[in-house]
Amino acid sequence: MKFISIEEAMKKGTGKVSIRGWVYRERGSNKLRFLILRDSTGIIQCVLARENFEKQWDEIDKIQIESSLEITGAIKKDERAPTGYEVKVSSIHIVGLSNEFPIQKDLNEELLGDRRHLWLRSQKMTAILKIRSTVVGALHEYFRKNNFYEFQSPIIIPGGAEEGPTMFEVNYFGKKMYLAQTWQLYAESAIYSLEKIYCVAPSFRAEKSKTSRHLTEYWHTEMEVAWANLDELMDYAEGMTKHVIKKVLEENKDELKILERDTKKLEPTLKKKFPRVTYDEVLKDLAKKKKMKVKWGKDLRTIEEEKFMELYDTPVFVTHYPKDVMAFYKPRDPKNPKTARCFDMLGPEANGELIGGSERDTNIEELKKSLKAKGEKLEDYSYYFDIHSYGAIPHGGYGLGTERLIKWICGLNTIKDAIGFPRTMTRMKP
Ligand code: 4AD
Repeated sequence: MKFISIEEAMKKGTGKVSIRGWVYRERGSNKLRFLILRDSTGIIQCVLARENFEKQWDEIDKIQIESSLEITGAIKKDERAPTGYEVKVSSIHIVGLSNEFPIQKDLNEELLGDRRHLWLRSQKMTAILKIRSTVVGALHEYFRKNNFYEFQSPIIIPGGAEEGPTMFEVNYFGKKMYLAQTWQLYAESAIYSLEKIYCVAPSFRAEKSKTSRHLTEYWHTEMEVAWANLDELMDYAEGMTKHVIKKVLEENKDELKILERDTKKLEPTLKKKFPRVTYDEVLKDLAKKKKMKVKWGKDLRTIEEEKFMELYDTPVFVTHYPKDVMAFYKPRDPKNPKTARCFDMLGPEANGELIGGSERDTNIEELKKSLKAKGEKLEDYSYYFDIHSYGAIPHGGYGLGTERLIKWICGLNTIKDAIGFPRTMTRMKP
């Protein structure tokens, strides 16, 4: 017996098929049993008549939601069936019976979180996980098509990163080590060998943020390019975002439908060039169009980003944030030294910062000054200064919060649903 997927069976449309999967819904009477079977490719209605299964009927009676089955039968079109096809079952093998499935429709987010290992089987999570797979595949594809090498850096690091206070400590044979927040500082060493590099890997942030867009462990898509300036970096960020969205719109039509995502909202991103505006212009627009006053020198808060983004239907690059509130490696702009040569790419539909990037400062004295001002220990960064002592070149890169992009594409309320098993300040199980 050769099993085919439910999708393949429906493509075949007529004749005998053998399929296997789990019971998604079931109902019936003493004479007739309707089982909706699901596998990773779809769902299909299967019908069993008691007269054909007299000897097996007691066993069949034990089938509940999530029991696993192997089924052979004749498939045909049936308008009344949920996916337009029905299998008239001629033989059935119960592979594994199921306890009463502990998830009903009306469970709240916390309970669904506790039962995540089972909730992954839902149509919603399956659709999101398929889109996630397309997104990550498209990210790799974009960089490889553009002649980037994939480069990996350590996850356990001695210190030195974005922001000291938000690092997770690791007891490393009695020594204090940390989980990486970014690949960047190692990437800056590697561009002197490979020039154009990227990675998609976990990053860790011990941020006490209980928002809909913060995870403590997230997949960080980062890139670093030798000789690149701010405009070139934004070109890559825009090209990458468009490529990913195009792929999802092409390959995940069914999943977007299951999620009831209004795909029209994603289309402007493919068609239009993303605006590039400075921090100063954002402040002016917020004051004029949204009656919001932001004091110059402060980083933009979520509410300010969201209000500003109400003016756009594509991502927007905001450049030249105040130098003093930026990470130490973002260089001053010589034309406007109070600002840094950096950008954030903000997402539409209240999705906030998706990407953060910048040119990199190669001036060791400036780097030391910025680090000291942030209370960092200079010895943690000695290898980083060393990089810039041997033929330093202009370069830059960016980091994308992969789950933030997935959240936006899928139109999710929370970033937690953009990953199989989310980690947040309050969610560490299962
Ligand atoms: O802006 P961030 O902190 O930049 C960096 O880490 C740079 N070193 C990246 C680089 O230039 N190579 O983080 C980059 C992106 C953010 O724009 C955001 O989308 C995502 O990472 N991010 C998070 N995503 C989920 N949960 C969190 N707690 C996140 N913190 C940052």
